[in-house]
Amino acid sequence: MKIKNICCIGAGYVGGPTMAVIAQKCPKVKVTVVDINEQRIQLWNDPDVNNIPVYEPGLSEIVEEARGRNLFFSTDVEKAIDEADMIFISVNTPTKTYGIGKGMAADLKWIELCARQIAEVSKSDKIVIEKSTLPVRTAAALKDILDSTGNGVKFQILSNPEFLAEGTAVEDLRNPDRVLIGGDIDSEEGREAMDALVNIYASWVPKEKILTTNVWSSELSKLTANAFLAQRVSSINAISELCEKTGADVNEVAKAVGMDSRVGPKFLKASVGFGGSCFQKDILNLVYIARSFNLQEVADYWEQVIIMNDHQKRRFAANMVRTMYNTVADKKIAILGWAFKKDTNDTRESAAIYVADYLLNEQAEILVYDPKVTAEQIYSDLDYLGSRSNDANRQAVTVVNDPLQACKGAHAIAVLTEWDEFRQLDWQEVYDNMLKPAFLFDGRRLLRPDTKREIGFEFYAIGN
Ligand code: UDX
Ligand code: UDX
Repeated sequence: MKIKNICCIGAGYVGGPTMAVIAQKCPKVKVTVVDINEQRIQLWNDPDVNNIPVYEPGLSEIVEEARGRNLFFSTDVEKAIDEADMIFISVNTPTKTYGIGKGMAADLKWIELCARQIAEVSKSDKIVIEKSTLPVRTAAALKDILDSTGNGVKFQILSNPEFLAEGTAVEDLRNPDRVLIGGDIDSEEGREAMDALVNIYASWVPKEKILTTNVWSSELSKLTANAFLAQRVSSINAISELCEKTGADVNEVAKAVGMDSRVGPKFLKASVGFGGSCFQKDILNLVYIARSFNLQEVADYWEQVIIMNDHQKRRFAANMVRTMYNTVADKKIAILGWAFKKDTNDTRESAAIYVADYLLNEQAEILVYDPKVTAEQIYSDLDYLGSRSNDANRQAVTVVNDPLQACKGAHAIAVLTEWDEFRQLDWQEVYDNMLKPAFLFDGRRLLRPDTKREIGFEFYAIGN
């Protein structure tokens, strides 16, 4: 089966970059990315490629190259579905905020709507691919809906979870550790569909890195991979608190532990807590699935990863208040970095939101600088928590375009995202323009404690 037309529903952080790279690597395949959000599509089509809605190093160059050639962005979802041989579903699946499973289960409302639309519009056989991270066995529900029209159109459902990390999406897509494809390996049609997708990736990924499994293994592998990664961060963060009590340095501990080849060096960086759209959501999902099978111990085991992460964020903020003589009321605090990690404009579940919220409850005055996040986004993140009125958020939080301006006249600075440009700041100048004593709280272990002490900051870093 030769694929000529690909459609992707959802032009977000996953759908956008993934389709851009497929279009670049497979110039003969027409790739159309659709989204119900008109403004988002408009930005993807902006003549100035620097305005595309997702910031990722290297992405705008690829969009520049492929857009209009074989990469298209559109709001005409039905037309794109109708034309496609292969449809990726990459819509968001946030944690439910209502009803059964509230705060735990994934909200599959959007996935179901997509399936219904595909069923309604399709006049020819199609391969439908779950790109969004989904709870195990969602494919069965998708299949039910797709097959329900009884109009003879045949669908093959594959699971192809995305392992890209934001900030390195382009590199991760070009050179993945592995590509995972789950399908119905017991049927000829299933194997054919899997081959069609393998062939797309094989245009640039070595065959031995393309794994094929059954659908359920594929779905569960994605949740498990994220749970294991998040668990490493929570594990080292748990040790960071112990380091602060004992005088050990968590970086030294992480280095010594990580050099054990059985453990490995990655994902052992202590921080103010992990964020991002996936870790928390996927673990909550795993916990919810375990509970629904009555596997209490399994659920509790994984839930602890989240509990530790919440603790780390709260602990960091509480520590700021305690260090500043137990009050931050009316004190000016500069937050450097709002994104959940560097090199992305994504703020979902970012630790900065929670730290800021805690400080606002203590009536601090906050100034925020982030190189890629807009003021509008920062206010909407705070409003979403619902801790105080939207007006109160705007009154207490000022967003500025320059880190020096954020820190001028401030009592304290909290570094919450590890943007490279923060390393390069003239910290002497920053210090000179602050109120004294000037406090520096490094939530990312970005700065060398020595140099900071040389300048004169009261300095705190996670895990010493
Ligand atoms: C999403 C999921 O969060 C993640 O679990 C999954 O692995 C990949 O898809 P992401 O791309 O980061 O990740 O989400 P987001 O940036 O919110 O993009 C989703 C897009 O889908 C949005 O632009 C939204 O407008 C669009 N959408 C949503 C539709 O086009 N149709 C819908 O019915 C619902
Ligand atoms: C993650 C997975 O890495 C990716 O494979 C999956 O497809 C989606 O979820 P992402 O959320 O983009 O990707 O970012 P990631 O690099 O995993 O970082 C997640 C969070 O953990 C960030 O807030 C990061 O700052 C934090 N982190 C990471 C640490 O605090 N310490 C570390 O050592 C590593």
